[in-house]
Amino acid sequence: MIILGFETSCDETSVSIVENGLKILSLETFSQIEIHKLYDGVVPEVASRNHIIKISPLLKQALKKSNLKLSDIHAVAVSNRPGLIGSLLVGINFAKGISWSYEIPIVYINHIFAHVYSVFFNNKVEFPCLALVISGGHTLLYKCNNVNNYELIGRTLDDAAGEALDKGAKLLGLGYPGGPILEKKSQSGNSSFVSFPIPNIKKGDNQFSYSGLKTALLNYIKNNSQEHIENHISDIAASYQYAAFYQLLLVVKKALFNTGISNLIVCGGVSANDTLRQMLSNDCDIIKNCINIFYPEKVHCGDNAAMVAGLAYHQLNNQSYNVNSLFSNAYSRVVKKGNK
Ligand code: KG4
Ligand code: ZN
Repeated sequence: MIILGFETSCDETSVSIVENGLKILSLETFSQIEIHKLYDGVVPEVASRNHIIKISPLLKQALKKSNLKLSDIHAVAVSNRPGLIGSLLVGINFAKGISWSYEIPIVYINHIFAHVYSVFFNNKVEFPCLALVISGGHTLLYKCNNVNNYELIGRTLDDAAGEALDKGAKLLGLGYPGGPILEKKSQSGNSSFVSFPIPNIKKGDNQFSYSGLKTALLNYIKNNSQEHIENHISDIAASYQYAAFYQLLLVVKKALFNTGISNLIVCGGVSANDTLRQMLSNDCDIIKNCINIFYPEKVHCGDNAAMVAGLAYHQLNNQSYNVNSLFSNAYSRVVKKGNK
């Protein structure tokens, strides 16, 4: 079963061809980071326009690399929620056009669950497991019973982890995207230089919050001279990054303990961060709970269409959608139990 996947939910245009859910025959991604850097963040209208420009050439390249023709494809898959609505519509309508013309099924994929699936390309994960999705738009914690069954058990009350890193880097004048920039700056910094606040996580709930951290950084910048900030930029970056990650660690550790689950998936753009990976493995060792932590390959941490085509293989027979349905959503109403 050969599935052609499209991902256009935010600022990456990505096309991939995946065989039987796991074998990536091609993956072609255009990141718009350089374009959005100009604005210190993603501009939705600009993102949609660039998806339109890039999607056809990327499809051509993906077919060429896999040595396939469109007539060899058995189904198409596309992220249809959550995301920027104009960006989503580009991928959805492109995929619908192919589905219609070649009379092949179309599978609409929840972008969040595709991130979780990205871990399956390079790991054998046992269920049940917990999945922490940390990206620019989301900080979510799920209990997964199988590849198609997700129960939301925790989420951020305000900003996402990646968003907090992006906003922090912007406040420090370091540019966009903040996550990788802060990671680099932090390497030579002292993470206990500033003690930024960690939210008071109540017993039993799995909530995250980043608004206090952001405000604390803003106040720190206001209360100190520009010279002090410039001289200690690596220390401040490392302290901010540490505080952002430490709460992830606290909540996940508690959730693992409360559920008794010993398999943990960590995915999404922020999961590419080596300091975070280090903090998680050190701490999970400390709780001596024999936790197995699974990460995507670095190249699959951010948005990519391989995770979309891969997950579609497991959903093809589960869905009643057809090419005539227009189904897109800026939000993902993922409630307790179920995968809609
Ligand atoms: O998953 P993703 O590509 O897009 C969304 O679905 O949001 O995640 C993008 C986010 C951005 O906030 C970016 O700053 C963050 O992932 N990110 C990182 C790293 N690489 C990307 N955060 C921390 N460390 C990194 N190395
Ligand atoms: Zn994403």
